[in-house]
Amino acid sequence: MTDSLLQVDGLVVPRGGRPVVHGVSLDIPAGEVTALLGANGAGKSSLVLGLAGRVKPMSGAIRVNGTDVAGWRPQKIRRAGLAAVPEGHQVLRSLSVRDNLRAAVLAPEREDELMANTYELLPELAKIEDRLSGSLSGGQQQMVAIAQGLMSEPDYLLIDELSLGLAPIIVDRLMPVVAAVADQGIGVLLIEQYASVALAVAQHAAVLDRGQVEWVGSADELREHPEILHGAYLGATPSHT
Ligand SMILES: Nc1ncnc2c1ncn2[C@@H]1O[C@H](COP(=O)(O)OP(=O)(O)OP(=O)(O)O)[C@@H](O)[C@H]1O
Ligand SMILES: [Mg+2]
Repeated sequence: MTDSLLQVDGLVVPRGGRPVVHGVSLDIPAGEVTALLGANGAGKSSLVLGLAGRVKPMSGAIRVNGTDVAGWRPQKIRRAGLAAVPEGHQVLRSLSVRDNLRAAVLAPEREDELMANTYELLPELAKIEDRLSGSLSGGQQQMVAIAQGLMSEPDYLLIDELSLGLAPIIVDRLMPVVAAVADQGIGVLLIEQYASVALAVAQHAAVLDRGQVEWVGSADELREHPEILHGAYLGATPSHT
C-alpha cells in the first residue's frame, strides 16, 4: 500500500562528497505526525535535504504517494507534494510576510484561498502581513516558514528543528499548529532537538543514529521507554516540560 504514504526506501545522501545518510527506510503516513529524533550529526538535516532534492541522493527511492521523486529537482518535488521547512527558518528577509507567502504558491489561481487558509491557521501572520520578514522575531519567522511550506499545498511537510532558538512560549504556540496541519491530512515529519516536545504531538517516531534508522515505533512507546533514546542529547529537556 503506497497511497497516502511518503515511503523512503534505502536512501543514501552525501554531504561534502561522502555518504552521511546510509540507506534510510522510513514510512511517513499522511495525516499524522512522525517525530524524527537523533543526536547532533546523526543525519536528520541531511535526510531532509535529500528528501527535498536540495542534495541529490546517491541511491534509494522517495515515493510520494507511489511516485518515486528521488533525483528530481526541488521545485518538481514540491509540485509532487513534498515540502520542507529548512533549519533556521530561511524566509526572504527583504519581502513582506504576504509576499513571502505569495512567492511559495505553486497554483496562482488558488492564491486567495491558500492565503485565507494559512491566516486561519496562523492568525498572527494576518496581523503582520505588511511587515518586512527580516524585521520579525524568530518565532514569527518560523511561522512564515511553516506558512510558506503550506502555500505549496503539500501532501507531506518536513520541518527541521521547529523549536531551534525559540522561547518555550513560542514552541507551545507552534506545536498545536503542527497538530492542526496533520489534521488537515498532511503527513508531517517533525525534527526536534527536544524529544519530549516532539513526542507530545507525534503519533509515530523514528530514531536516527549515525545516518541509520536505529528504531521506529509509536510515539507512545518511545514516551514510555525513553531509554531507547540513549545518548547525550537526551539530557537536554526544555524548561517548560
Ligand atoms: N555541508 C556539509 N559538508 C560536509 N559534511 C557535512 C555538511 N553538513 C553536514 N555534514 C556532516 O553530515 C553529518 C550529518 O549532519 P546533519 O547536519 O545532517 O545532522 P543532524 O542530525 O541534522 O545534526 P543536528 O542535530 O546538529 O542538526 C555530520 O557528520 C556532519 O558533520
Ligand atoms: Mg540538523
